Amino acid sequence: EAPEAVSPTGKPTGAPANARAQSGAYLTTAQGARLYETDHSLKAGARGPVLLQDHHLREKITHFDHERIPERVVHARGAAAHGVFKGYGTAANVTKAAFLAKDTETPVFVRFSTVLGSRGSSDTVRDTRGFATKFYTEEGTFDLVGNNIPVFFIQDAIKFPDIIHAGKPHPDREIPQAQSAHDTFWDFVTLHTEAVHHTLWNMSDRGIPRSYRMMEGFGVHTFRLVNSEGATTLVKFHWKPKLGVHSLTWEEAQITNGMDPDFHRRDLADAIEAGAFPQWELGIQAFPDTPEQTFQGIDLLDPTNIVPEELAPVQPVGLLTLNANPTNFFAETEQVAFHPGHLVPGIDITDDPLLAGRLFSYLDTQISRLGGPNFAQIPINRTHAPVNDMLRDGMHQTAVHAGTAPYRPNSLDGGCPFLAGAENGAYVEVPVDVPAAKKVREAPASFSDHFSQPRLFWRSMTPVEQEHIIAAYTFELSKCYEQAIKERALQVLANIDPELCRQVATGLGLPAPQPTENLADPEPSPALSQIGKRWPVE
Ligand code: HEM
Repeated sequence: EAPEAVSPTGKPTGAPANARAQSGAYLTTAQGARLYETDHSLKAGARGPVLLQDHHLREKITHFDHERIPERVVHARGAAAHGVFKGYGTAANVTKAAFLAKDTETPVFVRFSTVLGSRGSSDTVRDTRGFATKFYTEEGTFDLVGNNIPVFFIQDAIKFPDIIHAGKPHPDREIPQAQSAHDTFWDFVTLHTEAVHHTLWNMSDRGIPRSYRMMEGFGVHTFRLVNSEGATTLVKFHWKPKLGVHSLTWEEAQITNGMDPDFHRRDLADAIEAGAFPQWELGIQAFPDTPEQTFQGIDLLDPTNIVPEELAPVQPVGLLTLNANPTNFFAETEQVAFHPGHLVPGIDITDDPLLAGRLFSYLDTQISRLGGPNFAQIPINRTHAPVNDMLRDGMHQTAVHAGTAPYRPNSLDGGCPFLAGAENGAYVEVPVDVPAAKKVREAPASFSDHFSQPRLFWRSMTPVEQEHIIAAYTFELSKCYEQAIKERALQVLANIDPELCRQVATGLGLPAPQPTENLADPEPSPALSQIGKRWPVE
């Protein structure tokens, strides 16, 4: 059994130490043979030639040649920490998930990331941030793979390759490396107006967080919780930082980019090392699970929508504390593999078409990123629940499976293992009705309002926050080469708010177009006063 790893200052990290990790008095080969020399190749005489029979030379160089693995196709740059999650027990009437029970403590690993930059890019760029949490629960691993912005650019995963192609650097010059200030990005987000809401959040101060410790996190999609009686509730997950939400100004972001591109990862590691453990409360917004899956007219399956907290308050269900840094960036931060389909009893998915694609994509990409199908055996990805699967062999298999009959039932290995029912902890999908329908490639009509929520966001901003948004659009759009893209972006802004459009147009030296959307506020719902009273978690 490997001892627990400690940080350079002697603090336990919570991570298991790798027995091969530079321990022991003697330098050895990978096969354990002690070495008398490691600085000179074996040669025929001091002036060579070098001999092919030098296995130590070949082993050392060959291993080095294969040290790099592909970076993540998105969210390549990140920083992570270990911690603990403690349930409050307040979610007991909406979910049977055991890790949310009162005072239950669950180890966690959290990775924060930027989305578009490569692994070596800067931290303080204007971008969305990933906020991915792995809960090592006793019922299996639960991953909450969220972002620091509550909405997403697109409503259907089939467009994900397109938005990422548009957001990544231009294919010809590979610039810009880590920011949204370029033609392809603005081309996409103005042609696909469902992206307007997420883009507006990016252009606000939320796009340049002060610290990972001061960011909110959001599960974005609506999830379905199920309690021990089988009753279901639709929810959105929120992380609320105890330190509050803080941002950099654009000037601060630019300066830190130049002076300390590692600003966010340094801040996180230093704070934890100093014992200033960052904390977040996990909360849920709860909605009745009706066949329409809407709340106050808001389509809960549309990931470009939020539900305002005034309509459905966020109700705290537990506390996350990050209290230990990784000991090895590659082994932990780089090799961790999150998946939105890693669920535990009590938490299920909904039919959000963006979520459906994610459920396919993460495992698929990790098979190539982590070299085959056995990456669940990498220490950081190992579940803390007992595993008894029938997955066998494959690249990088490290388990030595016993028995002769990896299928069930069988008549050779005793016919086992047994199957569980919900009463003894099986993960059973909620048996929701699927209405009879024709196959179509189209979105529901309720996905077509792309401007009311951006307008709501813009109007909720203070004057200084609005100034920052205007400055951000002006700066970013001024970097586009194509005049037509700037003009289309101004049309989008006019449909959010004419004053926002006018000021950005002035900054760009272009005329401000008239809105083509109806800018009137929707009627407030009479049921508004009941919200939060009807669906309390306790
Ligand atoms: C990675 C969040 C949509 C594909 C990530 C990560 C986060 C994240 C936080 C980084 C995980 C880590 O730290 O290792 C989200 C959110 C989304 C979203 C909140 C929308 C609500 C999508 C969609 C797809 C997708 C629609 C594809 C259809 C990927 C892939 C990775 C990734 C391929 C890299 C995974 C890896 O290599 O380990 N996403 N994502 N994401 N995401 Fe998403």
